[in-house]
Amino acid sequence: MRVIVTGGAGFIGSALVRHLVGERGWDVLNIDKLTYASNLSSLKPVADKSNYRFLQADICDADAMHRAFLEFQPDAVMHLAAESHVDRSISSSAEFIKTNVLGTHVLLEASRAYWTVLPPEARDAFRFLHVSTDEVYGSLGEDGFFTEATAYDPRSPYSASKASSDHLVSAWHETYGLPVLVTNCSNNYGPYHFPEKLIPLVLLNAMERKPLPVYGDGRNVRDWLFVEDHVKALTTVLERGRVGETYNVGGRAPMENLTVVERICDLLDGFQPDGTPRRNLITFVPDRPGHDRRYAIDPTKIETELGWRAEKTFDTGLSTTVEWYLNNAWWWRPLREKVYSGDRLGLLEADSASGKTLVETSA
Ligand SMILES: NC(=O)c1ccc[n+]([C@@H]2O[C@H](COP(=O)([O-])OP(=O)(O)OC[C@H]3O[C@@H](n4cnc5c(N)ncnc54)[C@H](O)[C@@H]3O)[C@@H](O)[C@H]2O)c1
Repeated sequence: MRVIVTGGAGFIGSALVRHLVGERGWDVLNIDKLTYASNLSSLKPVADKSNYRFLQADICDADAMHRAFLEFQPDAVMHLAAESHVDRSISSSAEFIKTNVLGTHVLLEASRAYWTVLPPEARDAFRFLHVSTDEVYGSLGEDGFFTEATAYDPRSPYSASKASSDHLVSAWHETYGLPVLVTNCSNNYGPYHFPEKLIPLVLLNAMERKPLPVYGDGRNVRDWLFVEDHVKALTTVLERGRVGETYNVGGRAPMENLTVVERICDLLDGFQPDGTPRRNLITFVPDRPGHDRRYAIDPTKIETELGWRAEKTFDTGLSTTVEWYLNNAWWWRPLREKVYSGDRLGLLEADSASGKTLVETSA
């Protein structure tokens, strides 16, 4: 397989590239603009392999995308490049619309132009896999799960931009016949996760015995998916998914944010039993504007139809993640010192005086 991965220097994209290049032996062209959220050191394990190539480019650059398709001649595209941080989308939405909506459009058009002139067999085999989020479905009440039939109801600039891109992808299938697949997944966590998101930020703050700020009452629920399970799900959908279909991907691990933070504290206390319990560092801070209350994915379709199932429980995945951060300061320390030190983002002006540190609880 020859696959273009967009956003392959990000959190999920780099896990996917490590898997495809290192474990599956596929030829991969990673196209990434290298925004603040990227990190080429996450690709260290595969960077020197002959089946890996990197192109620094913006998916909004139509000429660069057309050239990449012609030169690389992919069998498939796995599209992950996006602005992905909800709080940043609240503070500044323009980049989200540009990359997530317009960038996806450019990529669809580059794919279509390339796919249209392929020989019949290659045309049939070609796939465009679009990676999206469960946040497009909005917020759940006390009960129920998101299924593939749940109506779209995005509520943040981030989720609205992802919902727009999902609709574009479906339209390119219906209108032009482009062989697309869409996945909507829950919150990922695991090694190499940029420390602006809940789990790595709390983990690093707890290691350094800094305050662990929790939004609102801490009772918002997110459904956790170990990133290495997710990339296997993406590969499964690419290989065996039915064209035109959507698959929800989740790890069957819904949990309140406060419980997640407490588990991190307890695990770290176990690994580093020094000083007072880290739960004492938990601090409640003003909530995110429009904070979705509960997400929970029903992954029955991908489990029964394609035979994929998350291998990690939340406990085993979190333990692996904590150990990885303890052993890999070379990866995260430069990010904490030079790229992002944890200042709060995404507050409206009225709230911003009281919240200083960020805990991102979304995708
Ligand atoms: N992280 C999650 O929990 C989660 C959950 C559901 C869905 N998703 C989706 O999965 C995908 C990957 O998420 P992630 O957490 O790895 O994101 P990330 O922010 O870690 O990485 C995004 C990558 O895309 C690149 N990028 C951004 N704009 C670009 C552009 N214009 N051109 C080329 N590259 C660009 C960045 O440089 C970065 O390497 C996204 O589409 C996101 O919406 C993520």
